[in-house]
Amino acid sequence: METPYSDTVMDHFMNPRNVGEIENADGIGTVGNPACGDIMQMFIKIENEIIVEAKFKTFGCGAAIASSSMATELIKGKSIHEALKFTNEAVTKALGGLPKVKRHCSVLAEQALRRALANYYQTKGLPFPTELKTDDELEEDHE
Ligand code: FES
Repeated sequence: METPYSDTVMDHFMNPRNVGEIENADGIGTVGNPACGDIMQMFIKIENEIIVEAKFKTFGCGAAIASSSMATELIKGKSIHEALKFTNEAVTKALGGLPKVKRHCSVLAEQALRRALANYYQTKGLPFPTELKTDDELEEDHE
């Protein structure tokens, strides 16, 4: 069957990596897109400022599942400082592109990660990094 999706997207949709929850996660981020109703939850484990484990649960479309799968793969082993610069473009690029109407699905992955990082800083009582302070949504969460 011909699809507008790359082989990489199809692979991550059919065989998603890192599905599930992390017990005693250091950060949990949940986001939803009110327009399509999809929900994504990301869990991260951090040791010595490195993301040693990342998992997700996504109730959503195939592109959202592929995006969360790829996002968790990309951030594993990265420092929290690198993760703070993580964007949905990195997910889209690594997936070999997404159709224009599905770009917002990769945005969910970026937002879920940012919320998980915010949750980490919040629960550890650490000062919020500038990168997160510029995110209005997270500011709201933090209030
Ligand atoms: Fe909503 Fe993909 S259609 S995240």
